[in-house]
Amino acid sequence: MGLERLLLASIVAMSIFPRMLLNLANSEKIFPEAEGPTAESSDELWLRSGPPPRVVDVDDYGAEANGCNDTEAFLAAWREACNASDYRSVFLVPEGKTYLLTPVSFRGPCRASSITAMIKGTLEAPSNRSVWLDHDLQDWITFEGIDRLRVLGGGTLNGNGQQWWINSCKFNTSMPCVTGPTALYFRRCTHLIVEDLEVRDSMQMHVAIAYSWKVLISKLFITAPGWSPNTDGIHVSNSKEVSISDCSISTGDDCISIVTGSMFVRVTDIFCGPGHGISIGSLGANSSWAHVSDVLVEKATLLGTTNGVRIKTWQGGHGYAERITFQDISMNNVTNPIIIDQNYCDSKKRCDEQESAVAVRDIRYRNIHGTSASKVAVSFICSGAVRCDGILVQDIYLVGEGRYATCSYTNATIVQLGYSFPFCSAEM
Ligand SMILES: *[C@@H]1O[C@H](CO)[C@@H](O)[C@H](O)[C@H]1NC(C)=O
Ligand SMILES: *[C@@H]1O[C@H](CO)[C@@H](O)[C@H](O)[C@H]1NC(C)=O
Ligand SMILES: *[C@@H]1O[C@H](CO)[C@@H](O)[C@H](O)[C@H]1NC(C)=O
Ligand SMILES: *[C@@H]1O[C@H](CO)[C@@H](O)[C@H](O)[C@H]1NC(C)=O
Ligand SMILES: *[C@@H]1O[C@H](CO)[C@@H](O)[C@H](O)[C@H]1NC(C)=O
Ligand SMILES: *[C@@H]1O[C@H](CO)[C@@H](O)[C@H](O)[C@H]1NC(C)=O
Ligand SMILES: *[C@@H]1O[C@H](CO)[C@@H](O)[C@H](O)[C@H]1NC(C)=O
Repeated sequence: MGLERLLLASIVAMSIFPRMLLNLANSEKIFPEAEGPTAESSDELWLRSGPPPRVVDVDDYGAEANGCNDTEAFLAAWREACNASDYRSVFLVPEGKTYLLTPVSFRGPCRASSITAMIKGTLEAPSNRSVWLDHDLQDWITFEGIDRLRVLGGGTLNGNGQQWWINSCKFNTSMPCVTGPTALYFRRCTHLIVEDLEVRDSMQMHVAIAYSWKVLISKLFITAPGWSPNTDGIHVSNSKEVSISDCSISTGDDCISIVTGSMFVRVTDIFCGPGHGISIGSLGANSSWAHVSDVLVEKATLLGTTNGVRIKTWQGGHGYAERITFQDISMNNVTNPIIIDQNYCDSKKRCDEQESAVAVRDIRYRNIHGTSASKVAVSFICSGAVRCDGILVQDIYLVGEGRYATCSYTNATIVQLGYSFPFCSAEM
């Protein structure tokens, strides 16, 4: 790497830096260090005060844990926990037992001032796909429209997704493409805490958060085989103020995916692999409008994933992905460690170049180290229609496995600060 190039880079950097600095200062304000933990501890303080909560044990409502359908018993217990009083309640799934649950929705609004779903035992999904397909059902376990819900307890949710994977059109191209259930779905929940659970072998996505606000997710252990198609770990859409921390995710698709309508999302202390990495998007499919902003991804370790940190948008979309920071990340044998792809195309049909694109701007990559399994360590492929603007690359050190790695970009404005290896150059 030439000294002149470095010098040139710092001159370019200095002229743009004040604006960047301003943005960085903003991002500190946007993600105050204490926000997550404070919200949690004040919640807990409030929960611990007063008399003990009312405990509703699913076994007292007829759950048998003997391989028969326990869904009705769970729903009866939920009605009790939700509406028996305006006091706080605990919905208890006892330890050491395995319950079979068919697709089920636990709904609010509830009279209870707060509900803790204490899942200590194991919940199993039916392995037969016709349970969903014959009745046109979606998802497996849904919590919907609830304020002040906590789901925790150290238990396991097993999606038994094998039949979905082998019949997927991604696995067997002669099969029709059908959308499979998400194992654990939260929709329209506010002040939601999800922690200390194992979610495994989902039919498709493991955990999804949609139309929710003030969400704290931590200590989730998510696993599925690396070949299982579309088994995202945690999927966030249309949600605000979401914190995801201390999770270990090993699946066949994105460890974490953040899609349209998501703002103020903080992802920290994540182990990811195998899988497709941590993704913003895909955005803008079918010419749709998309918006993701103010995302911070930090302290992640990625091992053997196909992508590291990725922003993916389809041709022809509208809207924007902006103010996104990836920092303090370790890559180990990751095929595409850093990537922006504005020509994303996950379709059997070819995706032609179009006039519009989801704008990608103010994206920062800082302190990202490790190894790339491919020659291309960093790639910013932007569209001619809407260039990527304000990409900051700072203190990057990525090497190929036994060879040099490259950083290249097209249709993007890049600022390189600190040490940057490989140095980024425009692709001709
Ligand atoms: C299981 O129980 C639920 C609730 O009663 C019912 O809706 C569903 O059809 C049952 N499923 C099977 C496969 O028995
Ligand atoms: C609880 O009560 C509210 C208000 O009456 C009602 O809308 C809701 O459906 C009830 N939830 C359950 C689970 O019974
Ligand atoms: C799945 O359920 C359907 C309908 O109940 C039944 O016809 C089929 O034999 C079941 N498949 C397996 C593999 O058990
Ligand atoms: C793919 O599906 C077809 C049609 O159901 C089936 O005949 C074939 O054995 C499947 N292939 C694999 C690899 O499972
Ligand atoms: C785009 O639209 C087509 C046709 O309506 C639909 O089949 C496809 O699933 C959509 N794709 C996405 C990614 O939403
Ligand atoms: C790196 O990953 C590739 C597949 O992406 C694999 O073939 C190779 O063995 C891995 N190397 C190491 C050192 O783990
Ligand atoms: C970059 O933009 C030009 C038009 O400005 C376009 O011809 C070219 O295909 C774009 N590059 C890529 C990789 O999309």
